[in-house]
Amino acid sequence: MTKAYEITDHYYDVIVVGGGGAGLRASLGVAEKGLSVACVTKVFPTRSHTTAAQGGISAALGNMGEDDWRFHMYDTIKGSDWLGDQDAIEYMCREAIPSIIELEHYGVPFSRTKDGKIYQRAFGGMTTHYGEGTAQRTCAAADRTGHAILHTLYTQALKHKANFFVEYFALDLIMSDDGKCLGVMALCMEDGTLHRFRGHQTILATGGYGRTFFSCTSAHTCTGDGNAMVLRAGIPLQDMEFVQFHPTGIYGAGCLITEGVRGEGGYLTNSEGERFMERYAPSAKDLASRDVVSRSMTIEILEGRGVGEEKDHIHLHLEHLDPDIIHSRLPGIAETAKIFSGVDVTKEPIPVLPTVHYNMGGIPTNFRTEVLNPTSTNCDNVVSGLMAIGEAACVSVHGANRLGSNSLLDLVVFGRAAAIRCFETIVPGMPHPALGADDGTNAIERLDKIRYANGSVPVPELRMEMQKTMQNHAAVFRTGEVLAKGCNMIDGIYAKKDDISITDRSMIFNTDLIEALELHNLLPQAVVTMHSATNREESRGAHAREDFPDRDDEKWMKHSVIWIDERGKTKIDYRPVHMFTLTDEVEVFPPKKRVY
Ligand code: FUM
Repeated sequence: MTKAYEITDHYYDVIVVGGGGAGLRASLGVAEKGLSVACVTKVFPTRSHTTAAQGGISAALGNMGEDDWRFHMYDTIKGSDWLGDQDAIEYMCREAIPSIIELEHYGVPFSRTKDGKIYQRAFGGMTTHYGEGTAQRTCAAADRTGHAILHTLYTQALKHKANFFVEYFALDLIMSDDGKCLGVMALCMEDGTLHRFRGHQTILATGGYGRTFFSCTSAHTCTGDGNAMVLRAGIPLQDMEFVQFHPTGIYGAGCLITEGVRGEGGYLTNSEGERFMERYAPSAKDLASRDVVSRSMTIEILEGRGVGEEKDHIHLHLEHLDPDIIHSRLPGIAETAKIFSGVDVTKEPIPVLPTVHYNMGGIPTNFRTEVLNPTSTNCDNVVSGLMAIGEAACVSVHGANRLGSNSLLDLVVFGRAAAIRCFETIVPGMPHPALGADDGTNAIERLDKIRYANGSVPVPELRMEMQKTMQNHAAVFRTGEVLAKGCNMIDGIYAKKDDISITDRSMIFNTDLIEALELHNLLPQAVVTMHSATNREESRGAHAREDFPDRDDEKWMKHSVIWIDERGKTKIDYRPVHMFTLTDEVEVFPPKKRVY
């Protein structure tokens, strides 16, 4: 029952989709360089999920002791279990330093050392001298670093006259007949109007898809809308099997308790009161990488040493810390623990459980943030007009496992890189090419199909079915048998997407419709995650297969890329890991056994 709609056209040099840390850094950078930019965002920018990032942002500033960006690069490659692209990691770790200094100059209120430098804390997997010492590399604004960065970037973006389209839901990319991206269609959620945004570059900064799982630290808005638009445009996603479980989500609530707690001296214990991480990671202990800590906690629980009545979680202690440290450096988590677990952190441990936190996989890009042409292994061969940054992208700087505090860094470094690339390739005000067969009406037809859905399955019911299936079948530990069953189940759930029911058919502020659109975005990502995980028969980083317990570099040191068609049929291919550097200031780090 499609009807003709009026479409409002907008023309800018650059369109940024998403107003979180990455989207704001890109919008600010583009505007600062004199290009016109529209930031199209489904939530008010300062409510984006970046605001939940607590512990900090990494950069080898060396404020607390010796450090070097090459140490940071090595740690990130080791953290990635040698699946990260070394050219992109080199770029991120080197550019971290000027990027943080820029943030400081923009006005981010970082915590300070006694002599006025940016305060830096220890975080998991961050070392000096290629694994020898512990680095204090994570720049912090107490335990509200994401919040501080987001507010500063938004204010700066406004100052530089970036244009914001707030509470606009992006529907689909507009692609030319020869596969270039020409912009994006969006729905204004407040008044139901439809908008066609034209840009010479469309930058997707739409975040991760944590909400495919039942228990996650991600905001309800984390539905990977950009990833889904890319899949619908016939472009594959990369490394989707790698889903990070953060070791310390609050038991039962899922809220994040920052790794910064362990960076400040907090530690984990089992039901015997044992600091069990000493057994699994004798050197780094509680500050091993997240995949290692999450697996160790899961083993403790599975072997009957979990705490609580049902022995199904672990204790995180910080009651031994000086209350002044908690007050000055961890005020937010003290409040969160009180509200969500009823715990006074100065007196009792916090009940915690590994919880889905981050997607290493996403839209494949090169280090300039250009989306890679799916049919080419050449990284200069890109989808013209399309970029991706932040958690939506797979650059790939995190490979099979991201180190804590490298996420805020990724947002800032690659948001900035996108702006630099736009400046290199766009002349302000240059004319926009004519549209091809795709003039945006396909997106409206899809919207209408969902809006008038009249099937038998309520959206919340299907979403819950998907989330429970992902939680149970793509967990911390995986086996071929459990994954194969997960594939059958998730394929069946995907098939029900055309049988959903919607009660409210209004275009104006209709949250039922938005939830249905989000479910339509989540489902293909759930399918490609489960299929990619089934396909990868090895253990690497966050992908731990009980039936293939070892990393297999000969067969599997490669990125997987996966397509899905409208009927849910997937196709998998591979892309080589970049074992080269951008400059001769550093050499490639060859793979070795990963111990902490
Ligand atoms: O633990 C944390 O504060 C989370 C940081 C991150 O995911 O980078």
